[in-house]
Amino acid sequence: MNKYELIIEKAKEARSHAYAPYSNFQVGAAALLKDGSYVLGCNVENISYGLTNCAERTCLFSLVAQGYDSKDVELFCIIGSTKAPISPCGACRQVMNELLPRDCEVVLANMLGEYKVFNNSDLLPYTFEEIEHVE
Ligand code: THU
Repeated sequence: MNKYELIIEKAKEARSHAYAPYSNFQVGAAALLKDGSYVLGCNVENISYGLTNCAERTCLFSLVAQGYDSKDVELFCIIGSTKAPISPCGACRQVMNELLPRDCEVVLANMLGEYKVFNNSDLLPYTFEEIEHVE
């Protein structure tokens, strides 16, 4: 297995933990850290739908809670049961912009064994970077 196939297996494992009784759409995410360990995340839904947390954000918030930061991340992966490899939502792209290295490779996969590799910076161009007030 190449490095992409390895992280896809971890993201699949994360997906198996998804709590998605409302959409029935399970998503998994995995971050490979430079120390060789993985941090996993899944979507966690709520009866008040807007409180749902996507798999990507669960994974990245967990990574921060465990004492890591973007510099520790080597590779990131997201998987869902989609026709084409999954595409992360806009909110998650904004969080990925903040909590992954700008040049991090992001593997987008589906359950059919297909995947695409993107650069994090290409998933969210022209980002909101700093708060600057112009009088
Ligand atoms: N979802 C994710 O976890 N990640 C995405 O990138 C897209 C959407 C979740 C949120 C919700 O639980 C379900 O998929 C349907 O939108």
